[in-house]
Amino acid sequence: MFSVLRGRVCVCVLCSLIGMLLAWLLLLQSPPETLAQGKGPVSFINDVAPILKENCFACHDSKKRKGKFEITSYANFRKGGSKEDPVVPGKPNESILIHLLTEKGAGRMPPKEAGDALPKEKIDRISRWIAEGATLDTGIDGKADLMRELRVRWKPPQPPMAYDRPVNINALIFTPDSKRLVVGGYHELTVWDYAAGKLLQRIFTRSERAYDMAFLPDGKLVVAGGRPGQEGNVRVYNINPASPKMVDGVAILDGVNDKNVLIAELADTDDTIYCVDVSPDGKKLASGGCDRLVRVWDISGGIDKAKLEQSIENHADWVFGVMFSPDGTKLVTGSRDKTAKVWDLATKESVLTFPDHQSPVYDVAITKDGVTGMSIGDDKNIRYFHATDNAKQLGKQMRASGGHGKAVLKMAYRNDPKNPLLATASADSTVRLWNPASGAALKTLTGPTDWVYAVALSPDGALVAGGTYNGEVRVWKTGDGMLVKAFNASPGYVAPKTTPTKK
Ligand code: HEC
Repeated sequence: MFSVLRGRVCVCVLCSLIGMLLAWLLLLQSPPETLAQGKGPVSFINDVAPILKENCFACHDSKKRKGKFEITSYANFRKGGSKEDPVVPGKPNESILIHLLTEKGAGRMPPKEAGDALPKEKIDRISRWIAEGATLDTGIDGKADLMRELRVRWKPPQPPMAYDRPVNINALIFTPDSKRLVVGGYHELTVWDYAAGKLLQRIFTRSERAYDMAFLPDGKLVVAGGRPGQEGNVRVYNINPASPKMVDGVAILDGVNDKNVLIAELADTDDTIYCVDVSPDGKKLASGGCDRLVRVWDISGGIDKAKLEQSIENHADWVFGVMFSPDGTKLVTGSRDKTAKVWDLATKESVLTFPDHQSPVYDVAITKDGVTGMSIGDDKNIRYFHATDNAKQLGKQMRASGGHGKAVLKMAYRNDPKNPLLATASADSTVRLWNPASGAALKTLTGPTDWVYAVALSPDGALVAGGTYNGEVRVWKTGDGMLVKAFNASPGYVAPKTTPTKK
């Protein structure tokens, strides 16, 4: 997905910059050897496992298992692969692991083609851990999933009180009363009085980014998100707790630790969750993400008693979009595997596969009558397909609407039989409105200066909002396309003054 790639590249550059800065700070503070010779025992989970994750997991996870060796748990690590335990406790010089890390010729780990040898400082740290007995930290089960153990130890940073650069917006949603907008930021959600462009609330989140949001019937907010390549989650927030902490007129909510704000955590995976949907009757919740799974929870007993009902493995690649059919019996999904699909929740069977995009599908929807499936993607088209009506036509395209000049990244659909409305957001920096019944183009809304990643329709149907890569939010009237408000949703950010240049 364009946006994902772009997001990831950006994160990588940022991470390596931060990494360099940290390394430099460490160098300033202490000579490198103090790390290896430092006081106190070396911890497997805090000191050794992060090195293995960074340099070895790619080839020694449960899927690749190069040399039949998987470092998915401490126990598997000590079991070794085709050879024996790579570690001889107390004797680093006799340990295969150290031999492989320091090997000068072929056979070094990581292999030459995968990169440089580990720096001496890291090898010394592993050696010292072996010399000290190569034990696992107390309190961790040897069979525990290492990715997960590392993840739970990770502490999210607090978002900056004032941003020095605009934050990417990957998701936004109107509140049920149509009066406020919730916008995904960097480790936070921000809530705005959009008519005034005024920040009302900041909700700090463990998740770095929010990719999709949905309100439950009781007003609680469900958010799909994660940290690219690290973790994915579905979390539920109460964005209106009693007497929140106020700073300069803005309510600051702690969605990381405060159980009055973070009220449920449903999924916890190794990579991003991209999409969520709540069934029209409010009894079911579904999500999709990088692990290719579509999860369905029964939430009829309350969100705090959510029960995972199905984990559907129907797509061959990341799942970007999910939506329940109006009667809640089916799910339409879209994936990087270039297809949209419909799944029958009762029979647990695939109903259809719609392949016509022939490129990644970024979002999906289904009409109120359940007859028409809609999907968008990298091929710049909005495609309509037979979703349930006619067995012979199932999965066949009805029509396609072009117009967007670049990939169509997100859509919002309003289930009003009298006035159905479809809004799409695109890398061509526009938001477009469509009549989903006829496929006719209604309005092209311009103004954004970057890719529009996020789009939302207000529950009353009067407004449409778009959110961009460079932090802009724009709200327009759906009726006449008039701009209601434009503002940057990065708290404290002051856009640099651009001086007009003469050509
Ligand atoms: C690019 C892929 C790749 C990476 C990255 C990688 N390995 Fe390997 N590893 C292999 C392959 C391939 C083999 C099998 C080599 C053979 O059997 O000759 C192997 C074998 C091993 C073995 C021997 C297993 C056995 O019992 O036969 C160990 C131990 C090992 N690797 C440790 C590591 C460590 C530690 C790292 C990280 C510092 C690492 N590897 C990174 C590909 C990789």
